[in-house]
Formats: sequence, structure tokens, C-alpha cells
Amino acid sequence: MAIVAIASPKGGVGKTTSAIALAGLLAEKQSCLAVDLDPQGNLTMGLGVELEPDQIGSYDVMTQQLEAEEPIVDTECGVDLLPTDSTLAEAEKEISDDPGRFFVLKRQLDPLKAKYRTILIDCPPNMGLLTLNALAAADAVLVPVQCQFFSLRGLDRLLEEISQIRSQYNLRLRLLGVLPTMAENTIITRKVLAELKKRHENVSVFYPVPKSVKFAEATFVGKPIHRYTKNVKLVQPYERVMRAIVPRSQKTPKEYLL
Ligand SMILES: Nc1ncnc2c1ncn2[C@@H]1O[C@H](COP(=O)(O)OP(=O)(O)O)[C@@H](O)[C@H]1O
Ligand SMILES: [Mg+2]
Repeated sequence: MAIVAIASPKGGVGKTTSAIALAGLLAEKQSCLAVDLDPQGNLTMGLGVELEPDQIGSYDVMTQQLEAEEPIVDTECGVDLLPTDSTLAEAEKEISDDPGRFFVLKRQLDPLKAKYRTILIDCPPNMGLLTLNALAAADAVLVPVQCQFFSLRGLDRLLEEISQIRSQYNLRLRLLGVLPTMAENTIITRKVLAELKKRHENVSVFYPVPKSVKFAEATFVGKPIHRYTKNVKLVQPYERVMRAIVPRSQKTPKEYLL
């Protein structure tokens, strides 16, 4: 059983797109729960779910008014979803003085560990209380990084921050790896990938996800990428990450990497 948080304080780096792609692939093989922990609700929409006003979701779970199992909905691609809408931002404020505020999600997900083989958590684009809850609950964290030069600058600090969060809140937490996203066939992309490997020798850098409008198209129709296109170049990088989450015994983790 593994709980994986997908986190980065930068917006638009492919967290939600990766969460949808990975959850979709995982659900083909085993029970998978996707947790939408971003008040923007992009994961919820991207899995084809529209919340009615007042429908229960992550807000009720984070304020401990409901157990995590209650708001979970089925999606067409077989992923179970703990959905959210913008009310989740209120939950963050409401629990901000609670002494146990960092471990609400962990406590809420504990009873679901017997039911799901994997739980993926899509984080908001900041390192606030919601992301801290995700990292306190997770066994591993995946960090998507856009293949652009300015992305490299913040990465050192982010990895340092994750390591501090690990020692403060969750010693089980490991860095699953860095996932380069929106890779192009350009000099910039090649330089960024080379630089990533050079600067972060001890970090797993996954095989890059190419830039393609198909990802936005798939999200628009509420489908994971492998259900939208047969283009292996777009699906394979996510299959590699999936195998790092759920290893097949005969493979070494190195084979999933860049
Ligand atoms: N590999 C990709 N190629 C092209 N566009 C992508 C790719 N991955 C994500 N996108 C697009 O980039 C935007 C931001 O992605 P998203 O997953 O929402 O980022 P985040 O959750 O980190 O804010 C979305 O419009 C999405 O469709
Ligand atoms: Mg997002």
C-alpha cells in the first residue's frame, strides 16, 4: 500500500495532469483513490466530476465533520475520487489553530489503507497547511518540474524544504523523484534535463513527459491520457512513474529513470 503526494509550490507544472494520468493507469491494475487537496478542484473536474453546491468533499474531511470514506465518488475511468470545490480553502483557515492541524489528513486516510492499494494526493500550488497535511500523510512525494530554466532555481530550495518536513512531520516520507514535464525537442529542454541530473545526483529523475496539447484535451473530456490517446510517447513516461510506485519485482528502479 502506498500513499503518494504530488507536490510543488509552482502552479502550472503538471501536478494535476500527472495525478490524473497516474491514477488512471493505476486504476487499471488495482484499487486507486485520488484525493483532490487543491481548492481549485482541477483534479475533480479533470476526472469528469462536477460537484453540486453543498455536495460533500475534502472540506468536510479536513474539518473532520465526515470520515474520508463518505464523500468518495466513482469516476468513469475506475479511479475513486475524494473530490473538492473551493470551500476547501475555508477548511485550511478553520483548522489553522488546531494543535493537530498537520495530521488531519493522515488520521483521515488511515482507515482507507486497507481498502486501497494506492492513494494519490494532488496538492495546491503552495507549501501551506494543505500540502503539509499531504506530506505528513504520504509515503512518497513526486515533484513535477517544468522543463524551463527558471524551474531549476526553486528546486534546490523545494527539495530542502521537503527534507525538513520529513524530519519534522513524517520520517517515512521519501522522495519518489522529480518528473520533468512539458519537455520539447529543443536545446533548452536538453540543457534543463542535463542540469537536473548533474545538480541532483542522488535524486531519481524520471523519464520526461513531452509537451503535447493532448494532455489539455484529455483533461477537458475528463479522461486520463491513456484513455484519450494511444500515443505511447505520452503514456510511457507515466507508466514508468507508475512502476516506481508499484514495482514489479524483476525490475530495478533504475529502469524507470532518465
Ligand atoms: N505534458 C504537457 N504538455 C502540455 N501541456 C501540459 C502538459 N502537462 C500539463 N499541461 C497543461 O499545463 C497546464 C497546467 O497543468 P496542471 O497539471 O494543471 O498543473 P498544476 O496542477 O501543477 O498547476 C494545464 O493547462 C495542462 O493541460
Ligand atoms: Mg493543479
